[in-house]
Amino acid sequence: MNRKKKWKNISNNNTLLSLKNKYLDEFENKNDFYELIFYIKGWTKSDCIIHEIDTFGLEEEEKFVALFEGLKTKPLQYLVNEAFFFGNKLFVDERVLIPRRETELLVENVLNDKNEYATYVDVCTGSGCIAIAIANSKKFEKIYVADISSEALEVAKINFATFDTKAEVLQGDFLEPLIKQNIKANLLTINPPYIDESDPNVEEKVRNNEPHIALFAEDSGLAFYKKLFDNLESVVDTSQKFKVLCEFGFKQKNEIKKIFLDSGLPYKLNFQRDYSTHWRYFILTN
Ligand SMILES: C[S@@+](CC[C@H](N)C(=O)[O-])C[C@H]1O[C@@H](n2cnc3c(N)ncnc32)[C@H](O)[C@@H]1O
Repeated sequence: MNRKKKWKNISNNNTLLSLKNKYLDEFENKNDFYELIFYIKGWTKSDCIIHEIDTFGLEEEEKFVALFEGLKTKPLQYLVNEAFFFGNKLFVDERVLIPRRETELLVENVLNDKNEYATYVDVCTGSGCIAIAIANSKKFEKIYVADISSEALEVAKINFATFDTKAEVLQGDFLEPLIKQNIKANLLTINPPYIDESDPNVEEKVRNNEPHIALFAEDSGLAFYKKLFDNLESVVDTSQKFKVLCEFGFKQKNEIKKIFLDSGLPYKLNFQRDYSTHWRYFILTN
């Protein structure tokens, strides 16, 4: 059947099973089908098995088809203005990067750490996803977040209000707001932009929709790590126990190690892998 005709043929009395028979083959990425079902019905992929013969109403099917069409050019999270991160449903739009699952590993590491840290700072905060997940599960005396993009910070503020996260919001270039105000972190999380602008592996949907300021960095994507190591002792309280967690691109481990060794910093650098066993973030401690 030709696709246009099929879309027009929206009918009532559908079940999930009939919807699946009708549309699943149209999805290049079959997971997108289940993402849509989750958004519309709140059913996970495994829930779908028990709900196969449950009703899927006319309005729900129309919503489903509209989102399917939108998905051809935009990520679902921007179409529905929500993204899940560490179990939190966050507001997102084109002003911020869509939080990625591998970034949750930084949060997990912090929450498994029994040490106490008085001042927590999240730099390159974007939607505020990392800061919210950490701040709402661990006690701090003071929390700061920073980003260069005032547009991104507007989104972060929406999420901080939703989750009642008490963070002081700073706008400025990377570590500068901290240096200017002499803020020294005991715990610092950073997910900086780290992709080389010419990287041919960036998916078209990502390049066309997500903020370039959130994706790309100079020096083959390494610019922020150099700045971090150069300024570490100005933004971290090294007189006490500290921890810095920072995400990076999966091919950047060796370069980061070299930048760190060249910096001569007398601290411990520990690399961690992600769910796909790619090197994904580092932890710097004293
Ligand atoms: C990879 S995104 C991370 C967003 C969020 N923390 C997350 O994990 O989803 C990088 C963020 O860094 C911000 N950014 C880019 N350049 C920056 C700079 N020079 N100083 C501060 N923030 C910057 C972007 O606006 C974006 O919000």
